[in-house]
Amino acid sequence: MTDKVGGNTVLVEFEEGIAWVSLNRPEKRNAMSPTLNKEMTEVLEALEIDDRCGVLVLTGAGDSFSAGMDLKEFFRESDRLPPEAWGQIARQAQIWQMQRLKNFPKPTIAMVNGWCFGGGFNPVVSCDIALAANEATFGLSEVNWGIIPAGNVLRSVALKMSDTNGLYYALTGDTFNGVEAAQMGLVKFAVPQAELKEKTRELAKKLLSKNRAAIRAIKHAWRKQEEMSWDASEDYLMAKLDQLRLTDPDKGRSQGMKQFLDDKTYRPGLGAYEKKE
Ligand code: COA
Repeated sequence: MTDKVGGNTVLVEFEEGIAWVSLNRPEKRNAMSPTLNKEMTEVLEALEIDDRCGVLVLTGAGDSFSAGMDLKEFFRESDRLPPEAWGQIARQAQIWQMQRLKNFPKPTIAMVNGWCFGGGFNPVVSCDIALAANEATFGLSEVNWGIIPAGNVLRSVALKMSDTNGLYYALTGDTFNGVEAAQMGLVKFAVPQAELKEKTRELAKKLLSKNRAAIRAIKHAWRKQEEMSWDASEDYLMAKLDQLRLTDPDKGRSQGMKQFLDDKTYRPGLGAYEKKE
């Protein structure tokens, strides 16, 4: 793999295990064009196996997270395309916003730093953890230009927001800020804009300090159990537990038990075991 990851519309910066991935069309408020969707799919694919990325932070260049799907390049210019071509363009967006992000093998954090509209909700919901600036502005603005939040946006939002809140904002197109997004459970917490990057870095470092194989198994299991019956989930989670014992290169379970029960050097309830090389 070459060192260069990303294209013109996606910026990737590495910092001690963190890959800061920015939607990079600030002059268009990071609206998601077909080109951006294609480049982001390629970036996520590359970062899955890039050791410089232990945690992925998704954010936006400039003062926007994303103004949603590009009304010109994604919608208007697609009007003249045959249905197959339009289907391909629409699917490309879903591939990175939903499938690739949800199944990304390392922890993902959405850092919502500003405007977040329409399709911009999808990657926020698909990341494992979302944080926002207090001052960020969210809006399900589709109704304001006569469409519905398709591209599974409604479905994504319904995973995080109650009927009371989700329907209100989808029907009115009203905006809400980062503090309100946190109160409604769309993001985990909101902090002043000036502190957002540092708080995100702290969270990323905490995730980097944990057992990587366990983190990967937990996030995959979280997604998969949603689709299973109670009994199937019970069996699946036991199988994942056994799989982890066999495949964890750090043998975290043994290290953790030894350091707690024998060495008495830490308390699992209060933090992670010390990794031994
Ligand atoms: N699609 C395409 N272009 C977009 C866009 C989008 N979703 N959002 C912003 N842009 C473009 C504008 O057309 C403008 O381009 P121009 O400089 O070539 O004229 C540029 O980005 C700046 O937009 P502007 O509206 O001047 O910025 P602003 O800071 O005053 O307002 C927003 C920012 C996000 C409030 C406003 O751009 C907006 O409402 N965008 C649409 C949001 C939306 O409804 N998205 C849902 C899509 S499903």
